[in-house]
This record gives sequence, C-alpha cells and structure tokens, in this order.
Amino acid sequence: MELLTPSSAPRHGRHARVMEEVTQPVTAPASQASSDNCPVVSLRGINKSYGEGALAVPILHDIDLQVEQGEYLAIMGPSGSGKSTLMNIVGCLDVATSGTYLLSGTDVSQLDDEGLSRLRNRTIGFVFQNFNLLPRETAQENVALPMLYGGVPRSERIDRAREALEHVGLGDRVDFLPTQLSGGQKQRVAIARAMVMKPSLLLADEPTGALDTASGEQIMELFQELSDSGATIVMITHERSIADHAHRLVFIRDGRLYTSEEVEGVAE
Ligand SMILES: Nc1ncnc2c1ncn2[C@@H]1O[C@H](COP(=O)(O)OP(=O)(O)OP(=O)(O)O)[C@@H](O)[C@H]1O
Ligand SMILES: [Mg+2]
Repeated sequence: MELLTPSSAPRHGRHARVMEEVTQPVTAPASQASSDNCPVVSLRGINKSYGEGALAVPILHDIDLQVEQGEYLAIMGPSGSGKSTLMNIVGCLDVATSGTYLLSGTDVSQLDDEGLSRLRNRTIGFVFQNFNLLPRETAQENVALPMLYGGVPRSERIDRAREALEHVGLGDRVDFLPTQLSGGQKQRVAIARAMVMKPSLLLADEPTGALDTASGEQIMELFQELSDSGATIVMITHERSIADHAHRLVFIRDGRLYTSEEVEGVAE
C-alpha cells in the first residue's frame, strides 16, 4: 500500500488552476471533477527512460493511447516489454520523460505531489498481481483505507467498505485478515478497495498472475460485471486467455504500442 500513500507521488511543478480543480471535496464522484465525455486516459508521444544523460536507458517509445469512458482495454506484452512502466505512468505513480498525459482531462505534468495524490485517490483504483493488502488489517480496514486518505468520515467508511465487500461476494469475510483468505479472495478485497472511491479508471497489472485458473476466471467475471456497470478498465497481462476478456486489445513490444493488425509482423 506504500504506493498509494499521499507522500509517495513523484515531484512536479505547480499550477494554480489545476490545483483548484483537484482540491474540490474528495467525496464528490470523480466524474464531476472532469470534463464530460473527455477520454479517461489520453497519452500523446509518451517516452520513458530510466537514468540520466548518456546513461539513460529508453524503455517506452512514442506511446499514443486513448481510453474512452466505459472502455475495457487489455494491454498485452511479454516480460520486460514495459507493461508495468506504462501502468505506473497511467496510474500517476511515475512520470513520463516526455510527452503529454491527460487523465480525465487534467494534464498530470502540471500537478505537484499533493495534487497528484489527490487526483490518483479520486480517479484511479489499482489492482496489483500480489494484492498489496496491509497484512495486519482486516478486509474491511483494507477496503476503507482509500476513504481514510480521501477524508471520508469513519462511520461512512465502515458502511461503504462493508458494501464494497458484499459486492465482491465477501460479506461474510469482512473481519478476516489477508492471511485468513485465499488468493482469489485477497484479490476480491483488492478489487473492493480499488472500487470503493468510485474511480474513473480501474487499473490492473496482472490481476490474475498469482491465481490458479479457476480463481482467475472468477476475477475476470468480476471485471466483466464492473465493465457492464460502466467502469473503465485498463488491464495489463501477458496471458492471451486473460486479455481476451477485454473488449479491446493492444500490444506492447520493446516499449512500443501496436494494434493487433500491426503486431503481426513484429518479432516477439
Ligand atoms: N526503475 C528502473 N530502473 C531501470 N530500469 C527499469 C526500472 N524499472 C523497469 N526497468 C526496465 O524497464 C524494462 C521494462 O520493465 P517493466 O517492469 O515495465 O516490464 P513488464 O513488461 O512489466 O515485465 P513483467 O511482465 O516481467 O512484469 C525492463 O527492461 C526493466 O529492466
Ligand atoms: Mg510488470
């Protein structure tokens, strides 16, 4: 959960107008803060390198990607192709070296640490391969955590966390610790946590990667339900059988993004 704490966002310059936007009451649905009908994700000419100057290693090259409201997109690629690097940028956990990223219409490069954390908290729900649950907190406390950062009052946090857990079929496990849950159940807690702030975007990096096939299928059914109810989902995976659950599929190879037609001629 360290990734989601307010202090862990990368540092940027300030921009007063955008700061005003992101300091709206955090309990308002994220969609109210963004322009209607603008894409949830708009990446233009995104490049990412690690390291500085002559030692810089380019990882992502000239990525253009648009994700509309209500889309369910899978990004598929082999190990080391840049999937998590891209996810970290889309999730505002890292910043691009160059290019423009508009998240629900907001240029993230204009935000400082606090602005980014607020935007992330209100706009994005994360699901990771290894669940990232706090081991000493119950399912309910884990789900309530984003609401704590979001300034939601305690009694409302408890009610909403229970509801979210009921929604993923864990109404009878609210007081269980992660160690008392199966992998599939842990991932459902993580999904409940991801959705509890009603984010504009559900961002999942290998959500079934640590699960057996049957539990993975159950998680995919849950994603399908969320998609049917209007959620925007970006899911990263290296498994074709998982990617096929999405409505649109793009491929990443050596840090470049391709459509299915384009990828045919590209070597693995
Ligand atoms: N902090 C970092 N510093 C330097 N290089 C990095 C850093 N993070 C990732 N890389 C490099 O970027 C490339 C892409 O890594 P990334 O984690 O995005 O791959 P991935 O597609 O998610 O792979 P996997 O399927 O194994 O998770 C790799 O070559 C990796 O070594
Ligand atoms: Mg990865």
